[in-house]
Amino acid sequence: MISSDLLILKESRKAAIQSSPLFNRELDLNRNELTFIFSQYWHLLTYFPNFLAYLITVLPRLSDKSSVARVLSEELGDGNLEEAHEGAYFGALKLLGIDENQVRSSVPLPKTQSMMSGYYSCANEPLKALGFFLSTEFADLWIVSNLGRLMLNALPERQTIKWIDLHVKQEPGHVADANDCLGWISTPDDHNRVTSHAQECARLWDDFFLGIYEEIESARKKLTTVI
Ligand SMILES: [Fe+2]
Repeated sequence: MISSDLLILKESRKAAIQSSPLFNRELDLNRNELTFIFSQYWHLLTYFPNFLAYLITVLPRLSDKSSVARVLSEELGDGNLEEAHEGAYFGALKLLGIDENQVRSSVPLPKTQSMMSGYYSCANEPLKALGFFLSTEFADLWIVSNLGRLMLNALPERQTIKWIDLHVKQEPGHVADANDCLGWISTPDDHNRVTSHAQECARLWDDFFLGIYEEIESARKKLTTVI
């Protein structure tokens, strides 16, 4: 059963992500800035299957391992590279003319690093891993729809992008699978712990987008000072 605090978090994620200054519709992003945004996001995207694999090892119930395995399989394209989320992501970046090597060799910002460390620290902590899993799935579709809008704005000739379509199709199932995993939590204390880890993960995501925005703004200010 999902607790009221967790439900509040779930319901708040769409608005929280949409209200990030990075996704302000007035912000006109150039190609370099888009490359920067998509490079920072890649650091999290590429680690997520590893996180799910660790999650399978720490969840005690077979039914939950099986649910997370389904999510993991979809993330990895069910054996088809082009359907893998990272494969489809690079497919979208290619349409934008963004070089894959440049993305892979990018340096994570401190706030990106903090988000990555959050996921790394879940490897041996079942309650934290579950909290981060829930929080990520609550936000995933809204993150992808906002990043996807930036992609589509830069590609006016296109109506859709596979990376977005995959999430629209799969995310409702991911959220349901994450909710099901809560079934093994039996005490109110453990529920509270999962909830506070989920809230921590949400804060790290919000900081992650803010960190990118602040970096873009500071680079723009430096450029105006030089000019
Ligand atoms: Fe997902």
